[in-house]
Amino acid sequence: MWSPILLLLTCVHFTASQVDYAKYVNPFWGTEGSIPGYTFGGGAVFVGASVPFGVVKLTMDTFVKNTSIAALQGGYTPNGFITGFSMMHESGTGGCSKYGVISQMPLTNIEAHVNLLDNRTYWQGRVGNDQASIGYFKTELENGVKTELSATRHAGFFQYTFPMEEKKHVLVDVSHYLPNVVGGYCTQTYREGEIKISDDRKSYQGHGTYAGGFNEGAPYTVYFCGEFEDPPDEAETFAGRDQFPGFNSMNPEPLPWPTFVSENMTSPQGSRVGAVFTWNGNTTTVRSNVGISFISEEKACRFKNEEIKSWDIQTTVDAAVEEWNRDVFSKIQVDTGEDANQDHLTLLYSSLYFMHLIPSDRTGENPLWESEEPYWDDFYTLWDTFRNTISLSHLIQTEAYESQVRSLIDIWRHQGYMPDGRSGNDNGLVQGGSNSDNVLADAYVKGLRGAINWADGYAAMMKNAEAPTNGSNKEGRGAGADWLKYGYVSQAMPRSISRTVEYSLNDFALSQVARGEKPEDVEKYLKRSAGWQLLWDATMPSKNTTPVFTGFLTPRDYNGTFNQTDYNPATCGACSWPSLTYEGTPFEYSFTIPHDMETLVEVMGGPESFEERLDYIFVPYTSQIDLGPNGAGINTIMNIGNEPDFATPYLYNYLNKQWKSVNQSRAQSRQYFRNTPNGMPGNSDAGALNSWLIWQMLGLYPIVTTPVYLLESPWFSDINMTINGNRTLRITAEGLSEDSYYVQGVEINGEQWDKNWFEHGDVMSEGGTIKFELGSEPKIWESGDVPPSPGHVKL
Ligand SMILES: *[C@@H]1O[C@H](CO)[C@@H](O)[C@H](O)[C@H]1NC(C)=O
Ligand SMILES: *[C@@H]1O[C@H](CO)[C@@H](O)[C@H](O)[C@H]1NC(C)=O
Ligand SMILES: *[C@@H]1O[C@H](CO)[C@@H](O)[C@H](O)[C@H]1NC(C)=O
Ligand SMILES: *[C@@H]1O[C@H](CO)[C@@H](O)[C@H](O)[C@H]1NC(C)=O
Ligand SMILES: *[C@@H]1O[C@H](CO)[C@@H](O)[C@H](O)[C@H]1NC(C)=O
Ligand SMILES: *[C@@H]1O[C@H](CO)[C@@H](O)[C@H](O)[C@H]1NC(C)=O
Ligand SMILES: *[C@@H]1O[C@H](CO)[C@@H](O)[C@H](O)[C@H]1NC(C)=O
Ligand SMILES: *[C@@H]1O[C@H](CO)[C@@H](O)[C@H](O)[C@H]1NC(C)=O
Ligand SMILES: *[C@@H]1O[C@H](CO)[C@@H](O)[C@H](O)[C@H]1NC(C)=O
Ligand SMILES: *[C@@H]1O[C@H](CO)[C@@H](O)[C@H](O)[C@H]1NC(C)=O
Repeated sequence: MWSPILLLLTCVHFTASQVDYAKYVNPFWGTEGSIPGYTFGGGAVFVGASVPFGVVKLTMDTFVKNTSIAALQGGYTPNGFITGFSMMHESGTGGCSKYGVISQMPLTNIEAHVNLLDNRTYWQGRVGNDQASIGYFKTELENGVKTELSATRHAGFFQYTFPMEEKKHVLVDVSHYLPNVVGGYCTQTYREGEIKISDDRKSYQGHGTYAGGFNEGAPYTVYFCGEFEDPPDEAETFAGRDQFPGFNSMNPEPLPWPTFVSENMTSPQGSRVGAVFTWNGNTTTVRSNVGISFISEEKACRFKNEEIKSWDIQTTVDAAVEEWNRDVFSKIQVDTGEDANQDHLTLLYSSLYFMHLIPSDRTGENPLWESEEPYWDDFYTLWDTFRNTISLSHLIQTEAYESQVRSLIDIWRHQGYMPDGRSGNDNGLVQGGSNSDNVLADAYVKGLRGAINWADGYAAMMKNAEAPTNGSNKEGRGAGADWLKYGYVSQAMPRSISRTVEYSLNDFALSQVARGEKPEDVEKYLKRSAGWQLLWDATMPSKNTTPVFTGFLTPRDYNGTFNQTDYNPATCGACSWPSLTYEGTPFEYSFTIPHDMETLVEVMGGPESFEERLDYIFVPYTSQIDLGPNGAGINTIMNIGNEPDFATPYLYNYLNKQWKSVNQSRAQSRQYFRNTPNGMPGNSDAGALNSWLIWQMLGLYPIVTTPVYLLESPWFSDINMTINGNRTLRITAEGLSEDSYYVQGVEINGEQWDKNWFEHGDVMSEGGTIKFELGSEPKIWESGDVPPSPGHVKL
């Protein structure tokens, strides 16, 4: 009889001693760029209410009048005008806005000059400072309405406190979506919608259909089901012509006025619909819950009813905090005592937060096909997250990560290709290679099996590798035809250099999975993974550098001729879709061959030349491109704000000079990642910048598509990580202080370690210990082999 009681006591004690890591999160980190008050050039992070991987990410949508520095992709901006509070968002993205749909807007005036079809006539500035914490957001509008938000997985909680003397209205504009201030072909559009009000006016339901956005996605439909705590005294629906289903809110053209009816409203194609609810009594607080679903209104209602059971917003906030602590923050436990560096705690737990906003777990919410497999959306994009985010997910979110891999494969099964980017249930866009290959290979080499059908996984990778998509950026390899024919991408194709680099790693990824799934393919893909060497022009000199470095990735004609005309490897024009390289110069891409560092060091002239060139890119004012306000003040060739350079500071490990990796990577982090609104060096890119920082703080860096992790230098003296479901990895650092962080020696599972790297099986499957001894003096402590080059092939 006593044992259950003992068990109970143990549980209670455990709960009571749990740390509330959520309080260390700074949701405003990354909300500004270099121009105070503007998101432009900053993290563009989502600031609002959500649970980990939630379908609902609820926050304001804003408009910023200076369109040349508006960055509205996350919805939230520090000073923008609020046009609504909507339920779906991405986080950390650039390019055209996506989502910002299913909204409410509290208004105190809908008379005279207010046209409910024209957001310019009712948008609201803000007073005071916004407040945000895990699962909670609060802002005060100029019209005096305080708005508080919270969220569950598929539902949102809206709470408005109106000034006593004002009218109380809530606008539901079904045609609302996040704008793209300068317009353009990928601007979102509203297609059609419907809104129905219950006879007691207490609830409303319907759907909206939207298309476009960054991924140029096909139309998708979201069903909604809203309810008010107190029935409004009046409710009307309205409709109106969609005057410009395009963009520019600064367009001086007057919009048409709406037609009001008290009946339910289904729009004819292209017509906008909405409803406005009014309370005449003396209550000042209006509360509303809204569920959303991609399947049906009924399901949206069910989500609302099942996930939010109380009209006390704090209940929903508390549940979100508990979920974040349990499922995310507690996976990496560090000392939070009074002596702990508070900024480091904030950077760590905020990074974990931003890394778990997308992708969105839409299991059970796939409107496109029936399947037993899980379903995820908002891979935005794998180009950003393949480099280290997914490797961290594998460790601390093993179940969710397995589920994501299954979903990627199921998308291939039903739609022909795995995505590189995907949102709104449609693939798009592909910036470089088919990087789902890297994601699958990274999972495979680290032994992730579970319920993944790896025969299908390999077939999905083969589709990327063997069925080029010829000029398309939607999915697969748009320059794959060149790759198959010449072994490199010719200059005739856009992004020929960065695509060649990425296809090389993609084919290496195939060779890794082929080892287990189809051994006869290994040689073929290994050989193809050396394709980058075909773009290596050993005679190409750097321009405007001292010293001059020779040998670079260089544009090449389809007939084999290198084209050095007007070519400077340290520049890339717009560094975007039509350029030779994407978000990085050829100089930077010339360092990104993780699978065959051995050959790379050799073609750069051997270890000494390699080291000299690596040192050079960290020297101030070596950059030959002006990143402008978008660049966080970065003036080195090395640019930690864009993904291609993520592994570069760590490459000294390949020279057995690990201390230099520690020195450079710490300098990068300290300079560019700070606990301030503008302390993130560029868009967080779905948390990719954040996961980079977490690895830095753990003192490790994964070499994607291989089971190798580089050893660096941790920022905390004691770290307990829950990995692979329920195992524990403990990382300790003796001798750590502000200026004592150079590694003097390492022990893994109690064994003296003489290499500056280890493999997944050493400590990441079953858990174990990594013990660093740190000191203030640099030391070459490693005497073993340099990290491996498993894709070593010399053409
Ligand atoms: C918009 O911002 C840019 C960059 O700060 C500035 O040069 C320009 O003057 C601003 N335009 C307006 C109309 O304020
Ligand atoms: C305002 O509404 C119009 C019409 O739907 C839309 O085109 C525009 O993007 C919206 N502007 C903002 C700032 O939301
Ligand atoms: C509008 O639709 C709701 C939900 O289907 C229904 O309950 C209500 O009776 C309808 N109202 C009218 C006036 O048809
Ligand atoms: C609202 O408050 C005013 C002033 O206190 C009062 O006269 C009025 O009766 C109240 N109305 C309702 C509907 O309670
Ligand atoms: C890590 O776990 C060990 C063993 O349970 C414990 O002694 C230590 O206090 C933990 N450290 C932290 C920072 O949680
Ligand atoms: C893509 O290009 C390849 C090689 O030129 C060609 O064989 C194939 O038919 C093309 N596919 C499509 C869909 O155009
Ligand atoms: C290859 O093409 C370039 C430019 O199109 C031309 O100048 C060169 O002569 C060609 N070389 C051969 C061997 O055909
Ligand atoms: C060589 O590169 C220059 C500069 O980009 C370009 O103008 C020229 O067309 C290229 N030549 C060939 C043959 O592609
Ligand atoms: C350490 O890194 C800093 C920042 O890049 C650099 O200035 C310094 O030269 C490096 N020290 C050594 C010894 O490489
Ligand atoms: C972890 O979970 C697995 C599967 O549930 C179980 O077999 C194993 O014993 C657990 N290991 C530990 C250390 O709790």
